[in-house]
Amino acid sequence: MRRGNMILAAASALTLALASCGGGSKSPVTPAGVARLTTIDFANVADYANPRLPAYFDATVKALDNSPATNAVNNRVATLGRVLFYDLRLSTNNHASCASCHQQRFGFTDPMRFSNGISTAAITDFHAMRLGNLRYWQPGTTFWDRRAASVEAQASHPLHSLIELGWGGPAGGLDALMRKMAATELYPDLFAWAFGSPAITEPRIQQALAQFLRAMISSSSRWDQGYARVFSPTAPNRALDRDLPNFTAAENRGRHLFMTSAAQGGANCSSCHLPPTFALAADSGSNGLDAGEKRLFKAPSLRSVGLTGPYMHDGRFQTLAEVVEFYDHGVQDGPALDHRLREGRAPRRLNLSAADKAALVAFLMTLNDDALIKDPRFSDPFRR
Ligand code: HEC
Ligand code: HEC
Repeated sequence: MRRGNMILAAASALTLALASCGGGSKSPVTPAGVARLTTIDFANVADYANPRLPAYFDATVKALDNSPATNAVNNRVATLGRVLFYDLRLSTNNHASCASCHQQRFGFTDPMRFSNGISTAAITDFHAMRLGNLRYWQPGTTFWDRRAASVEAQASHPLHSLIELGWGGPAGGLDALMRKMAATELYPDLFAWAFGSPAITEPRIQQALAQFLRAMISSSSRWDQGYARVFSPTAPNRALDRDLPNFTAAENRGRHLFMTSAAQGGANCSSCHLPPTFALAADSGSNGLDAGEKRLFKAPSLRSVGLTGPYMHDGRFQTLAEVVEFYDHGVQDGPALDHRLREGRAPRRLNLSAADKAALVAFLMTLNDDALIKDPRFSDPFRR
């Protein structure tokens, strides 16, 4: 906390310096250089730190937030994260950035089953993950197989990866990347502006990317517009099973199936994909894609899931209809299979009608968040 305050204090001293000398030679930012390369308005820094959240993003949602106290979102650091996320210079050959595989218009994923990074000759082992509501997942681990401990730790992986941004082994590691960044007309000034000194370090890169990623909150889908009108913290199940006034009959049927348990005639999806964030429940076991599965995977939030397939860690399903078919009658038994997908000892069979399957897909489509995919705060800041 105290360290954060000091950084903030240093940062506002720099604003004053910048304002009073009008971007002169003593300014910590070289406005000419940064402005030449990016469209960022340094006089009006975008707000990442104080999101306007719906009433139902209350204490129950805050409890899921994996933001560490040591890296609370700060507008300048998150702005630096935005530049890093979109900068092709962060790859060895200037061909790829985080945004190559995490494309805003698709909810920050890639329509390709496996992604290309620095070269079209190589592909990733897994399907790229959507990034909205990444912060609402305890214990905060990242990647499908949960192997990175935090969003901060994750941020270094694509940099090191020989397939993604290419800095591993022969390319010289992150030291070579940081030397490349230090030689740009962008980064020494931007790091000084964000952190109070120009040093480019791996922890600072991690902090900036993690802040930018955690700021990607999704709370403006059609489901949100409807739910905001019926939500009540004291209603049974927080009114999640109320019909929404802006939904079609099929969407409301799909919503009911998603939100309710088998006892209430539902498919119980919401017991793992938790509304209102639709991020995965911390205690979710396997969803039984493969027989004998022992591994535990996470799922990204289902928000914007309808913008593009394919689905699951290996992108095995092309469409949401295929996903629903799988949950209907394809769940496989294995040691890691979650109890919520069992009926007695056997994998659960939903045996939904064709109309109910279509309704479930129609509901999933209502989670698409047009505001997040058009939000200029998360768009490419570079002049290209
Ligand atoms: C070449 C494509 C590619 C590039 C470039 C790339 N990613 Fe990813 N990203 C992926 C894939 C594929 C996964 C899933 C990998 C896995 O689970 O092993 C992923 C997973 C993630 C996750 C985990 C999400 C979750 O819910 O656990 C985060 C966060 C992320 N990427 C952020 C970034 C950042 C930040 C960068 C740039 C520094 C980046 N990615 C660059 C393809 C890419
Ligand atoms: C036991 C908890 C659990 C339940 C119940 C559950 N899921 Fe999942 N779901 C998961 C897990 C875990 C994954 C990620 C699996 C993987 O890729 O290995 C997932 C993945 C998904 C995906 C793909 C996400 C992506 O980004 O590719 C969709 C869509 C989905 N589930 C929808 C549903 C629907 C619809 C229901 C109800 C019929 C449901 N889920 C019930 C745990 C669950």
